[in-house]
Amino acid sequence: MKQNSITLATPDDWHLHLRDGKALANTVAHSARSFRRAMVMPNLSEPITDVDKALAYRQRICASLSSEQNFDPLMTVYLTDSISLDEIRRIKDCEFIHAIKYYPSGATTNSDSGVTHIDKVMPVLELMAELGIPLLIHGELTDNSVDIFDREALFIEQVLSPLVARLPHLKIVLEHITTSHAVDFVTNQGSQIAATITVHHLLYNRNHMLVGGIRPHLYCLPILKRNSHQQALLKAATSGNSKFFLGTDSAPHAKTAKENACGCAGTFSAPGAIELYAEVFDSLNALDKLEDFASHFGPDFYNLPRNTDQIQLQRQAWNMPNQYQLGDDVVIPIRANEAIQWRIIEATL
Ligand code: NCD
Ligand code: ZN
Repeated sequence: MKQNSITLATPDDWHLHLRDGKALANTVAHSARSFRRAMVMPNLSEPITDVDKALAYRQRICASLSSEQNFDPLMTVYLTDSISLDEIRRIKDCEFIHAIKYYPSGATTNSDSGVTHIDKVMPVLELMAELGIPLLIHGELTDNSVDIFDREALFIEQVLSPLVARLPHLKIVLEHITTSHAVDFVTNQGSQIAATITVHHLLYNRNHMLVGGIRPHLYCLPILKRNSHQQALLKAATSGNSKFFLGTDSAPHAKTAKENACGCAGTFSAPGAIELYAEVFDSLNALDKLEDFASHFGPDFYNLPRNTDQIQLQRQAWNMPNQYQLGDDVVIPIRANEAIQWRIIEATL
């Protein structure tokens, strides 16, 4: 007998892009309908590079919540070559900031202010290890000579592996992993190293993006890889290993910025995220592993309490709308105009 409904402790999204300004009214609502908390990425056009900016951004996010929504934005600060050790201490003392985000300069959307070389931030990373502040890593090499499909694997080999050897106590989340190399690396480390997995990297591989026509809404970074890597991610997500937990990397861009001769990277998954994770886990007969992945392993890693309220999902097909509002623009969601097999029937957020 197939299982037709599932109740989960309310999930959290450990990697989310909410953007800013008018877009917040749209993006926050899409996440708040199914997630209780989210780790909010700091890569705004003016990056969130210090405590004051993070607190002001948090206020803008909270101001866009409606009174019935119960959603807690967990803030991050964007690591730059020039961040001071004093700022790191202030981050440690701030109850609303939970991590620091490492973007290699040039790796992705709004990453120009990112780290130019890991040696530049080594004293900062040493202090983070001492203070117990997690480092969230966009793990890709940015050297133009490195093939885009190899960027994650080579980052792990050339930057991450030496970093872990040098700072064995630094807590690290390798964000939005896309390769078997990342799965193997994380699996083989101590409990201080974890990884988030997006729903689009579980659902798709590069054939879905490139065969029979190019699908710009599946273009994201790190880019979708070949099927064998997708299979490794599916295995990791449903393994019951607490090092792997949910992070959507939902990253809305205006339709015109995606359907463009030089389209932006990012897949907008928030409107169907938890439903699609359920679909993925169901397809592997692993629904019994979903709650740990979506609701338990994340807070456990960050030493935060697990959510005590619940959501209920039911096997019931619905159609994702063809677009949503994003400030003055529109954005195309994952599965636009197509069916999703699970839906939320009750949420006490
Ligand atoms: C993200 C974005 O648009 O902010 N894009 C993406 O393709 N994932 C940035 C990121 O997480 O790389
Ligand atoms: Zn991201």
